[in-house]
Amino acid sequence: MEARLYFLSLLTFLLSLAKESQQGQHERRLLKHLFQDSGYNKYERPAEDESNPVDVKFGIILQQIIDVDERSENILSSMWLRMTWHAYNLKWNAEDFGNVSTLIVPRSLVWVPDILMYNSASEDFDETYPTNVVLSSDGSNLWVPPGMFKSTCAIDITWFPFDDQLCDLKFGSWTYVGGLLNLTEDSSEGGDLSSFIRNGEWMLIGLPVERHVLQYDCCPEVYIDLTYTIHIRRRTLYYGFNIIIPCVLISSLTLLLFILPPDAGEKISLGVTILLSLMVFLLLVAETMPPTSDAVPLIGIYFACIMMMCSLSIVFTVVVLNFHYRSPDTHTMPRWVKRVLCGWLAWLLRMERPGGSTTRRSLTQRAQVKDYKLGPLEEKSRSLMANVLDMDDDPRMANGSTTGFLMKMEESMGMNSSSVRHDITSILRELKKITSRYRKEDEESDVKNDWKFAAMVMDRLCLVVCCVFTLGSTVAILASAPHLLA
Ligand SMILES: *[C@@H]1O[C@H](CO)[C@@H](O)[C@H](O)[C@H]1NC(C)=O
Ligand SMILES: *[C@@H]1O[C@H](CO)[C@@H](O)[C@H](O)[C@H]1NC(C)=O
Repeated sequence: MEARLYFLSLLTFLLSLAKESQQGQHERRLLKHLFQDSGYNKYERPAEDESNPVDVKFGIILQQIIDVDERSENILSSMWLRMTWHAYNLKWNAEDFGNVSTLIVPRSLVWVPDILMYNSASEDFDETYPTNVVLSSDGSNLWVPPGMFKSTCAIDITWFPFDDQLCDLKFGSWTYVGGLLNLTEDSSEGGDLSSFIRNGEWMLIGLPVERHVLQYDCCPEVYIDLTYTIHIRRRTLYYGFNIIIPCVLISSLTLLLFILPPDAGEKISLGVTILLSLMVFLLLVAETMPPTSDAVPLIGIYFACIMMMCSLSIVFTVVVLNFHYRSPDTHTMPRWVKRVLCGWLAWLLRMERPGGSTTRRSLTQRAQVKDYKLGPLEEKSRSLMANVLDMDDDPRMANGSTTGFLMKMEESMGMNSSSVRHDITSILRELKKITSRYRKEDEESDVKNDWKFAAMVMDRLCLVVCCVFTLGSTVAILASAPHLLA
């Protein structure tokens, strides 16, 4: 009984062993058949007729754009290459080999086309990973080596940061000419994007392919390459938030420069601070750009405009401050300044001078008054004196009335005339001195105010020009961009 059981289990074990060996046997037999018995040589180009080329179908499957390096002008992408060709010498009849219809062998064992990326920018030129090759019983071979491809890409920065980039990936056989290896694309639509992982910085627009067949005068052979073009568009949100908006804000701060009153004493330092912060942004932008002089990026033009405006603002602020602090001791106001700045421009900018009696009349009206000495100030101060002392301002004229006044006083008070007369005369002299001094001060402050008003008009003019320029340049730059949002 026990012996029978033992025999049975041994039998099943042997049977299962036999079955396994039967399964493995086919593949082993097939390998032996393909690579030993048939005299296969992997260096042989698998063309049945040597005068015909081997047809190789080629395609790329783009996985991800990992990095676009604007400074070194290259692009790093993760891709799978897909190559299929027909090998007449790797065929078998599947039914003879236990229905084994596909065989997977290492790349080193069979012939593979030597397709390389011509415009590679990596240190070890070929980055493909040597994966296995799939052989089919009908002779078709499939090889899909993945790889990280760093390729050169001429970066065109003209429209930065609203730019599109076209990066070529040129594939071709390194040694086989067109007569030996007929390279064709497996899909006329271009690269396969079904497993593409989107990139945060770049938007993929397309991956078209073009087949080039080049023939040089020297040789009868043709050279075939497939050029895939990665068309990417920069996503502008990042640059909008981190460069454009701060830049617009800072440039609009320049307007404050002309609103800040000169007496605050901060005008120049504000201007210089704005200029410096613009410089910092310019450095940030310049760091991402390739150091090329082929083109000036759009944002560079914008920065140049804004910085020019800022520098000019500082220059004009100095002029404004100069005007503001002028006094009649050092400057006389030229007629044209009075006419152009205080007259026309003030009218054009709808500015009027509010304030006291001396300044209530607008300067245009004042300019029309021919004799400045007979202005309202003189009339008023004279009437004040006359009210108090009942006399004329002019000393020559005053004598008579003063004497009459004194006489009246003497009469009414019955005082010693000579001493009183002396006292009152000296008082009057003092009064006259004080009055003339005040009058002089009034005149001076009037002229000073004229200068201040001229400075104000200039400030306002600069403000308007600056506003128009900032708005105009911002709109012009944004409008000239090929696309704003991506
Ligand atoms: C191979 O496949 C054919 C048809 O599919 C079948 O008739 C035959 O039995 C199979 N041979 C083996 C060894 O499995
Ligand atoms: C290359 O292959 C393509 C497509 O398979 C074919 O149309 C063309 O005639 C072939 N060229 C040569 C020279 O064999």
